[in-house]
Amino acid sequence: MLREVARRGRLKQIIAIYPGSFDPVTNGHLDLIQRGSKLFDGLIVAIARNPEKGSALFDLEERLEMLRAMTAEWKNVSIDTFDGLLVTYAVSRNATVVLRGIRAVSDYEFELQMALMNRKLDQRVETIFMLPAEKYSYLSSRIVREIAYFGGPLAGLVPELVEQKLRQKVQAKNPDT
Ligand code: PNS
Repeated sequence: MLREVARRGRLKQIIAIYPGSFDPVTNGHLDLIQRGSKLFDGLIVAIARNPEKGSALFDLEERLEMLRAMTAEWKNVSIDTFDGLLVTYAVSRNATVVLRGIRAVSDYEFELQMALMNRKLDQRVETIFMLPAEKYSYLSSRIVREIAYFGGPLAGLVPELVEQKLRQKVQAKNPDT
């Protein structure tokens, strides 16, 4: 039976959504996107229009542009934006999986709450957690924004393009420095 499935190929394509704020995308996000692209037939990186988080450093268009540029080499990865409930969006894109990264134990509580709530909201969508490489386990967009704000080094934390955009943003916000 398994041999037959392997011979004919899988009929069912598994589409996963990797949601987040991506303000901005970091090397940790890209590590997870690469891992997800190997596991799923299609991976949609979905930027949330998240009014709860207040104003973002980068607007949606800028985040879309950076993510598109940084993921162009992975052919089964696409970039999109969404608002409203994540599970509603996932179903609208025929996705059955929500992919989330867990870096450390501290992430677990929030991720557990979100995964269980999403399951309650729609049982057709399953959350799958993956671990980024250890070297990114302390990395977050918030910390990257903070380092950029104080002019610290960003090499290895974000792609060069993102570093340039961050420096421009900080410069534009503090033209006297
Ligand atoms: O990068 P983030 O900020 O950790 O991403 C959080 C995000 C965008 C995935 C989460 O806030 C979300 O799914 N928002 C959509 C609204 C929603 O569905 N809320 C109920 C899930 S508990």
